[in-house]
Amino acid sequence: SLSNLDLYYDTVLNLTKSAGQILRENNSNRDKYIEFKTSPTDLVTKTDTEIENYLISGLSSNFPDHKFIAEESAAKQGETLLTDAPTWIIDPIDGTMNFVHSFPHSCISIALYINKEPAIGIVYNPILEQLFTARSGKGAFLNGKQIRVSNTTSLSKALIIIENYGCAPVHQITPEVVELISSLITGSHSTRALGSAALDLCMVACGGADAFYNYGIKIWDIAAGMLIVREAGGLCTDPRGGPLHSTGNRILAASSQNLVDELSKRLSETEDKLLNK
Ligand code: IPD
Repeated sequence: SLSNLDLYYDTVLNLTKSAGQILRENNSNRDKYIEFKTSPTDLVTKTDTEIENYLISGLSSNFPDHKFIAEESAAKQGETLLTDAPTWIIDPIDGTMNFVHSFPHSCISIALYINKEPAIGIVYNPILEQLFTARSGKGAFLNGKQIRVSNTTSLSKALIIIENYGCAPVHQITPEVVELISSLITGSHSTRALGSAALDLCMVACGGADAFYNYGIKIWDIAAGMLIVREAGGLCTDPRGGPLHSTGNRILAASSQNLVDELSKRLSETEDKLLNK
């Protein structure tokens, strides 16, 4: 019911703000304790684990029936399937590489899904004090002020966020991927990357950028940002232009259908070349 949602929202907002202090206080520390997960670029720090435990214990003591899908727990216990039950999808630090380098673009990303649909999305960068929030059907906000996607409709006028250079199905910098990236660099107004999929999505939501795509991500990287983009009037699709896959491991976000069309055409062509190799 509505009053429950208000309670969930107020509770998670308070917990996220407190958790943000942990991120902020540790960001400037140059000697972060790092562990490697699947590769030398797949990182986890003591702060990731501390924030995740803080959020899960705070939420589960308030809402004992709620379920969790969270990055560092999943790394240890395997991924949990999303069910119809109220489920908090948590990335304790999105942009861990940034955090390790004290590059000030990391955030806490947290979303509540009910019946497999996003109800609440919060992306909080406590270093730059950017709090992005959205609730289903109620719009998207940055520090309490309503945000909207840009009016950009053509690729040549668009600022495109190209996050990592991989492209399905290889996630490697092959000649086909290099060709795609260079065609986007020359074919767009310019390109950027913040190093956090959640913050990249929020940049599309507030009109700072016009489109963004990313392959090889996980559901917790985009669960909150996706709702924020949609509530800001933007589109989130599969990179081929169809509906977003429920596993959420690839995304295209844009301010307009025309940008989705222009980008998905190029992304599909590259993917087809890689598949036919
Ligand atoms: C990563 C960031 C990055 C994206 C990677 C993610 P993490 O998340 O969102 O921008 O390109 O695919 O894994 O590991 O910092 O939570």
